[in-house]
Amino acid sequence: MASQRLSPNKLVSAISLSATLALDARAKALAASGADVVNMSVGEPDCDAPAAVQAAACAAVRGGRVRYTPAAGRVELRAAIASHVSRTRGIEVTSEEVTVCHSGKHALSGTLLTLIEPGDEVLLLLPAWISYVEQVTYAGGTPISVAPRRDCGPDFEAIAAAIGPRTRGIMLNSPSNPSGYVWSAAEIGELAELARERDLWLLSDEIYSRLVYEGEPSPSPASISDDARGRTIIVDGASKSYAMTGYRIGFVVAPEPIAAGVARLHSHLTGSPNAVSQDAYLAVLENEPPEVAEMVAEFAARRTLLIDGLRELGLEVPMPRGAFYAFPRMDAHLDERGSVGLCEDLLEEQRLATVPGAVFGLDQHIRLSYALARPAIEEALARLGTFLGAR
Ligand SMILES: Cc1ncc(COP(=O)(O)O)c(C=O)c1O
Repeated sequence: MASQRLSPNKLVSAISLSATLALDARAKALAASGADVVNMSVGEPDCDAPAAVQAAACAAVRGGRVRYTPAAGRVELRAAIASHVSRTRGIEVTSEEVTVCHSGKHALSGTLLTLIEPGDEVLLLLPAWISYVEQVTYAGGTPISVAPRRDCGPDFEAIAAAIGPRTRGIMLNSPSNPSGYVWSAAEIGELAELARERDLWLLSDEIYSRLVYEGEPSPSPASISDDARGRTIIVDGASKSYAMTGYRIGFVVAPEPIAAGVARLHSHLTGSPNAVSQDAYLAVLENEPPEVAEMVAEFAARRTLLIDGLRELGLEVPMPRGAFYAFPRMDAHLDERGSVGLCEDLLEEQRLATVPGAVFGLDQHIRLSYALARPAIEEALARLGTFLGAR
């Protein structure tokens, strides 16, 4: 009886700690104990937030702007987000469609808790970011995984076949974590057409939208047509675009009743978003600080360095157009433990931290982040070469 009393409920017991956070923590603990670890498991920019962010955060603290704010966020920040999204996506967004949240994760979980009825299915297009399964499940929904093409792009036949009477929406993440795949406007159009035919929500996680290195920017489904605009919910935030991961600030743009529902829910769960971070975010939305373009240019150079190096090692890896991850296929190097075993061996034998593709639903791959300095990327490639050579 006592042990039962001490257990979390069934839903929480079924949730494991985010594998990327757990791996990152393990790599950091190893490094703290003196091991020379190259940590490619990280999912965050390695630079400081822009000077304007830091100044605004300090000013908020010193100026006493640290009290509760409205649950949906400060009025001026909602307006700034509405005009930022209008400008960057080429659509008309109103403040009432914006709810500021503690982060992209918080925006996404709030949206799912607001939308999903018990048993509703949500399609997750593999490889899918680690938290989607847990968030859909916790909201009472059923995640349905859909396999991609070999290059990690969308397989429309598979998507259409996965849609059933209980399907409520499709999660879309372009640029993708973990593959870096960026959808084309034609692909988004095809998805939007499917959503129209089957009357589905498009849940568009656009957290990496600023990080695209070549070709067209990643199009939002909201920009594709009036119909798609009405069925798209955009989730975005400051973490990746402005190197503000620890500030914890993000937002959802949704039709007014949904955005208001998320705010009502959050008013009881988390109160209001962090007041200091709201001011810090406001400082960069109107005029992008120069540090952002510098960061993007540096990521572009690191991307080439890493992908070229992986290909020289004989690995099959599509050139990622966005985000800051490479997702090579490792089929030839896996044993019965799959990508999890491979990543464990890499960490133990070579002190190289990576993330197994299994956590994104594709066990043939591993994920390597290139949000780390070029010498560290070169060292990682050398270690990976030694590792593969010895297998
Ligand atoms: C695909 C994707 N979506 C959303 C998030 C959430 O970002 P945050 O909660 O820091 O805003 C992340 C963070 O790793 C991500 O990779």
